[in-house]
Amino acid sequence: MENVMTGKAYPDEEWSGAGCPMGAFARRTLLQGTAAGLAVGAAGGTALREGVTVAGTPAGATTEAKSRTIPFHGYYQAGIATPPQQDAVFVSLDVTAASRRELTELFRTLTARARFLTAGGRPPKTPSTAAPSSTGILGPTVVADGLTLTVGVGASLFDDRYGLRARKPVQLVTMTPFRHDDLDPALSQGDLLVQICADHRDTTVNALLDILTHTKSAARLRWRIDGQRNPERPVGVRRDWFGFKDGIANPDTTNAAKMDQVVWVQPQSAEPAWAAGGTYHVVRIVHFFIEAWQKVPVAQQERIFGRRKASGAPIYAQGENDSDLLDPIYTNDPQGLITPLDSHIRLANPQTPQTAATSTILRRSYDYDRSPNLPELDMGHAFICFQQELETYIAMQTRLEGEALVPYISPRGGGYFFALPGVRDDSDYYARRLLT
Ligand code: HEM
Repeated sequence: MENVMTGKAYPDEEWSGAGCPMGAFARRTLLQGTAAGLAVGAAGGTALREGVTVAGTPAGATTEAKSRTIPFHGYYQAGIATPPQQDAVFVSLDVTAASRRELTELFRTLTARARFLTAGGRPPKTPSTAAPSSTGILGPTVVADGLTLTVGVGASLFDDRYGLRARKPVQLVTMTPFRHDDLDPALSQGDLLVQICADHRDTTVNALLDILTHTKSAARLRWRIDGQRNPERPVGVRRDWFGFKDGIANPDTTNAAKMDQVVWVQPQSAEPAWAAGGTYHVVRIVHFFIEAWQKVPVAQQERIFGRRKASGAPIYAQGENDSDLLDPIYTNDPQGLITPLDSHIRLANPQTPQTAATSTILRRSYDYDRSPNLPELDMGHAFICFQQELETYIAMQTRLEGEALVPYISPRGGGYFFALPGVRDDSDYYARRLLT
C-alpha cells in the first residue's frame, strides 16, 4: 500500500517484507555496526559485543540481540530443569470451556502457540484491513529468545465439569493457608497455570498477550505475577530483594538420577500413568516487608537466614567471604548457638534423618516489584518450586511456620499445580494422555 501524498510505501509494507528486500536492511545495519565497531576499536580497542549499544553511536546502530532456542518437544516440559531465564510471567487461568471436547481444543491451541513462540519465525501475513496475527512487539519475525512455556493444571480442573475426577494426580489439592498466610482469593488458585520465562521482558509479554488472545474463548485470566532474576552480584548466585544470595542449595538439574529422585514423577508410581514425566509446581506470592527488613542489623539478618549476607556462606563459616558451597553441618551445634534453630535454612533443611525425606525441592524463584502501591512498597518473591511429591513442599512449609523470617514476609497468593509431562513431538499436545 502507498501513501497517496508521498507515493512511498507505508512502513507496514517494509514490516511484512514486501518491497523491502531483507538484504538492503541487513546491509544498512551491518555498515552502521561496522562503523561503530571501528570507532570503538580506534578509541579504546574494545571489541563490540553483540546486542550492546555503544554510547555516541547513532540511534539504530546496535547489532541484533542474540536469540537462543530452547527445544519445545521432549519427555519433560522445558522451564523446570532449564536454568532460570532473566524474566518470567506466571499466569493463572480459569477454564470456561463448555465440554471436554472444548477443553481438548484449548490444550491443542495452547500447544500450537507454545510450539510457534518457542521456535520463533514469521507470523502469517494478514490483510492490512484485518487484525494482525502477531503483536509486533518482537518485530516482524518472532524471536525465540530463550522462551519456555510450562503448563500445569490445578485441582479445580478435576471437578465434575470435564469428567476428570478419577484422573487427578493423587497429591494435588487446592492450596489452603499456612499459619501466617494472608491469601487473597483474587491472587490464588486457578484451573491452569502457564509459566512463561525468557531472556527478555518483551518476549514474555509477547507470549502472554499471544496466549491470552488465542485462548480467550475457553479460558479467562484469573491472576498473574511478573518476576525477574537479579544479576549475580558480584559473582555466583543472584540476590533477592533482601540482599541475600538465593538459590545456593538446590539439586543439580543436570544430574538425571537426582532429578528422577526429587522432581519427576516416575512411571509405575502411585500417580496415574498419564502423569509420568510431570511434577508438582508450587507458586507462592510472598510480599516482603522491605522497609522493616532494612532496619534489621546485618548480623541479625544473617541469623534469620543462617547464611552470610555478603558471600552466602553458612553462618558458621570462619570468614565473611568464605565460599557459599560449604555444606551446613548442625551436629556440632544442637542448640543452635551458631546457626539458630529457627533460621530459614535450618528449618527448611534441618539435616536430620527424620527430615531427610522432606528436605529437597527444586527452587526456581523470581523477584517481583508491583510498586507503586502506596503507602506500602509491594515487592517480594514469586517463590517457585518443583517436586515429585507435593507433600514434601507442605512438610517443609509447615516447618517454616516457626521461622524467624515470619515478621518480614506475608504470603498473599499462588497455588498448587501439576506441571504436565512434555509434548513429545509434532503430533502430541499438552495433556493428551490425561484427556484420552
Ligand atoms: C519467600 C521468601 C523466601 C526467601 C526470601 C528465601 C530465601 C532463601 C535464602 C536466602 C536461602 C539461603 C541460600 C540458598 O541456599 O539458596 C534459602 C534457602 C532455602 N530455602 Fe528459602 N526463601 C524463601 C522461602 C522459602 C520457602 C517458602 C521454602 C520452602 C517451603 C524455602 C526453601 C528453602 C530451602 C530448601 C533452602 C535451602 C536450605 C539448605 O539446604 O541449606 N524457602 N532461602
